[in-house]
Amino acid sequence: MADRPYTLLSCGMSIDGYLDSADAARLRLSNAADFDRVDAERARCDAILVGAATVRNDDPRLVVRSPDRRADRVARGLPASPVKVTLTRRGDLAATAAFFTTGGSDRIVYCPTAVADGVRSRLGTVATVVGSGPAGDVDVAGAMADLSARGVDRVMVEGGGTVLTQFLTADLADELHLVVAPLFVGDSRAPRLVGDGDFPWNATHRAVLAGVRQIGDVALLRYALSERFCAGHDPDAP
Ligand SMILES: NC(=O)c1ccc[n+]([C@@H]2O[C@H](COP(=O)([O-])OP(=O)(O)OC[C@H]3O[C@@H](n4cnc5c(N)ncnc54)[C@H](OP(=O)(O)O)[C@@H]3O)[C@@H](O)[C@H]2O)c1
Repeated sequence: MADRPYTLLSCGMSIDGYLDSADAARLRLSNAADFDRVDAERARCDAILVGAATVRNDDPRLVVRSPDRRADRVARGLPASPVKVTLTRRGDLAATAAFFTTGGSDRIVYCPTAVADGVRSRLGTVATVVGSGPAGDVDVAGAMADLSARGVDRVMVEGGGTVLTQFLTADLADELHLVVAPLFVGDSRAPRLVGDGDFPWNATHRAVLAGVRQIGDVALLRYALSERFCAGHDPDAP
């Protein structure tokens, strides 16, 4: 077994590279056809991972929405939706968040060992809390190895920017699906696609653009980020 799952990063951004607006209300970047494509990608995964800020700000359900896709997974002996995973340093997560209350799949929270007991008492039975390492950032590679040991072979990382930055700078991503929405945010208070970092793909080592597709009014850019890419599913295949 590989020491980490096949890792697909999936997100949408504005033309000027923002993941959201600076307002409290979530900015809709995608369109219905692309949401359906994302749903199909979710259905192919064993786990979906987002950062704790996305759980708090967006309150996403992170389930497979299509009844046919859910039924297909169940027929294959899988839970109707993938396992949900989040990372938190502080453990400020509410058991009432849709992340924990929707869908019947398992939820896993990775946090520093020092806060794990507090997170467990706050979340009760809605999640498995894995204490991992000292205070501060959980080691993402370690969390991925732990997911692999739990039988997760394919994980979809859906943001936000802090999490995407870590997967990219740590060279833990095999594939990136980047949707560009036809709008500008134009507000530097808004979250960007990634933060500062030392990225493996730069002026001297460019990433491989593996596909470009128009989906209504958005563009899907598909990047191959590792040698494992070819083993992955190709949504552009006829
Ligand atoms: N356009 C898209 O496709 C898309 C997708 C997802 C999210 N978003 C947007 O992105 C924004 C949120 O992005 P963000 O960068 O602020 O936050 P984020 O990446 O969703 O979450 C960051 C938080 O995750 C936790 N975290 C991250 N790495 C960690 C690690 N290694 N160890 C322990 N905890 C870790 C920390 O949680 P604690 O603070 O709890 O310690 C950190 O504050 C929202 O506006 C959301 O709407 C957009």
